[in-house]
Amino acid sequence: MSVLADRFGRVATDLRVSLTDRCNLRCTYCMPEEGLAWMPQEQQLTDDEVGRLIRIAVERLGVTDVRFTGGEPLIRRGLVGIISAAAALSPRPKLSVTTNGIGLERMAVPLLEAGLDRVNVSLDTLSPERFRELTHRDRHADVLKGLAGAARAGLTPVKINTVLMRGVNDDEAPELLLFALNHGYELRFIEQMPLDAQHKWDRHEMVTAEAILASLEPFGLQPDPVSRGTAPAETWIVPGYRDAAGNPARVGVIGSVTRPFCGDCDRTRLTADGQVRNCLFATDESDLRGLLRAGASDEEIMTAWQAAMWGKRAGHGIDDPSFLQPARPMSAIGG
Ligand code: GTP
Ligand code: 5AD
Ligand code: SF4
Repeated sequence: MSVLADRFGRVATDLRVSLTDRCNLRCTYCMPEEGLAWMPQEQQLTDDEVGRLIRIAVERLGVTDVRFTGGEPLIRRGLVGIISAAAALSPRPKLSVTTNGIGLERMAVPLLEAGLDRVNVSLDTLSPERFRELTHRDRHADVLKGLAGAARAGLTPVKINTVLMRGVNDDEAPELLLFALNHGYELRFIEQMPLDAQHKWDRHEMVTAEAILASLEPFGLQPDPVSRGTAPAETWIVPGYRDAAGNPARVGVIGSVTRPFCGDCDRTRLTADGQVRNCLFATDESDLRGLLRAGASDEEIMTAWQAAMWGKRAGHGIDDPSFLQPARPMSAIGG
């Protein structure tokens, strides 16, 4: 089988597919309150086009894991059908969604039945008022219901993603962790990355992995005996707690900025308009939609995808003086 290798010896087996750049929230670290200029419909890949690219990735290029992201993937109308098609591939890939949780209560069972394995849900605060300030929408209760619905349906382990911001929600780290532990969810704290549409990211405002771990000191976290592999999250065992499956409970920290993991990266990304990104921070992209619509063969698409990955840089370079934030904001890349 062909693979998606780069010149540094890394092989991409994890495909992240952004299904829309739209979202029903406006997290301050992602989008301005008025939203962004959305991608025109005709530029977005159709469900069949997405399905074809996923098939090529899985059946011809060695991809084993497919994650659907956005914007907010649950607002993509064809999501259940796209997941069913991916679940019918051979070998069957592992399928997950990263969502803000709105609508997940209603969608959890249909998604499970379509073949989805698990979900990650973004939640930055336990306070409904703070949630409204942070997302410009009054939907906190919907997110909590979405989390519960996912756990009930068995889309497990249910993971929570929390971006901590100084002076905004960094005082909540212990409470958020207790909430997750008491519900059997796996919480991961994330360092904020320079990917916001407004280009307001400031390294000095970022809550670092070190600061996050210091605030969790009362939990007496223990090293995780299970190897991290290629995962962005470093994990610790939280003594005295079990997850929903009865295993020792864990907490994660995704230290993309201060503890980068680019050397182990196994990711390739597809945007909703059919561009391959070889890195979250890539400044150039490769156009698969143009090939698809010009009638390219599977082999031609494979060759273009492989060439795109070969050009992947060694690391994100956030610390380099020449670092440039990608033109595409997080909401149009998918995290
Ligand atoms: P799991 O496999 O469920 O642990 O998922 P994940 O943590 O890989 O993905 P998720 O979509 O939940 O993303 C969590 C955070 O990790 C988000 O802030 C992503 O932007 C970030 N992330 C995901 N992949 C990468 C990557 O390749 N590089 C960097 N720097 N960050 C990433
Ligand atoms: N830095 C780090 N994580 C981010 N996310 C969104 N924007 C950023 C950022 N600038 C997170 C979301 C979601 C995941 C896809 O990425 O909270 O959980
Ligand atoms: Fe939407 Fe996710 Fe961006 Fe928040 S971080 S506005 S949930 S795309």
